[in-house]
Amino acid sequence: MTENVIETENLTKFYGERCAVYRVNLRVPRGVVYGFLGPNGAGKSTTIGMLVGCLRPTYGKVRIFGLDVFRHRTKIMERVGYLPEKPVAYRNMRVEEFLEYMGRLEGLSRGEAREKARELLGFVGLGRLAMKKVETLSAGERQRLGFAQALIGDPELLILDEPTSNLDPVARFEILSKIRWLASKKGVTTFISSHVIPEVSRVSDYVGIINNGSLIAQGHITDLVAQEEDEYIVRVSDPKRLIDRLRERDYVLEVVSEGKDGVRLKVDINNAHNLWIELPELLVEERLALYEFKPIGDPLEKLFLRKLGVFQ
Ligand SMILES: Nc1ncnc2c1ncn2[C@@H]1O[C@H](COP(=O)(O)OP(=O)(O)O)[C@@H](O)[C@H]1O
Ligand SMILES: [Mg+2]
Repeated sequence: MTENVIETENLTKFYGERCAVYRVNLRVPRGVVYGFLGPNGAGKSTTIGMLVGCLRPTYGKVRIFGLDVFRHRTKIMERVGYLPEKPVAYRNMRVEEFLEYMGRLEGLSRGEAREKARELLGFVGLGRLAMKKVETLSAGERQRLGFAQALIGDPELLILDEPTSNLDPVARFEILSKIRWLASKKGVTTFISSHVIPEVSRVSDYVGIINNGSLIAQGHITDLVAQEEDEYIVRVSDPKRLIDRLRERDYVLEVVSEGKDGVRLKVDINNAHNLWIELPELLVEERLALYEFKPIGDPLEKLFLRKLGVFQ
């Protein structure tokens, strides 16, 4: 049985005359990492604001764990960890003290809150800053603290609004690995917004693409990108021979040599499966050794750009 942890129905938000989110129908299955991808101003934060009950929709519904967010907000939020785009923390508190305090607000005892705060500071890589004042943290460190805060109540669902936007590449890698770990090992469903395509393609199982307030694609990442992979590099022992043979195929749009032993190949996306069937046969017939076969580029990026009308 597939159960959706988040479901929205024609979710719509107008700021005065300006439409920020229009008829969005999200489907987020339990246990997945769902990447909510869109350029700046697309409507990601507005959508998330409505998911967590901070913003009232102009029209439409949000159900989390099958419950209406506006009727059961407190009950739902007990099971949700939320990291806002600009995390807020009490500036005068010390880092560990702040997390402990948040744990107490989540209903943990003093001892539990302290233990959990220590554990999470280690988990997000802030252990050595435990005694620093929150106001002295850099933007990236504050984002790590926000991530820890989102985790303090052991949530079943994490909603993270651009959690890596202020992080350097190493910290970004670390936090994304933690998100994957939480999903795989603890079954935490994660909804993460981002405008960074490679990041979404690395961390997500499901993807939703939003542009100008509308959801323009949604689904399992493998299904979504299956139709996007149309360029390959093939390295073989005799590239000229392979080029001659591939030229005669009608599904091959372009085939040129690349480097010492490479062949660069563009296929007609609607008949691309023919390549998978025929290439091994060709290699055997021509007695060619295969050194490498790999797609070129990030298929999610191709999908994203095509959906946004940037090319094709
Ligand atoms: N409080 C607001 N008042 C008016 N317009 C807003 C407000 N917040 C966001 N917007 C507008 O709504 C659109 C979507 O914004 P937002 O949801 O923040 O996008 P994203 O998070 O994808 O960058 C943008 O055009 C933005 O300017
Ligand atoms: Mg935003």
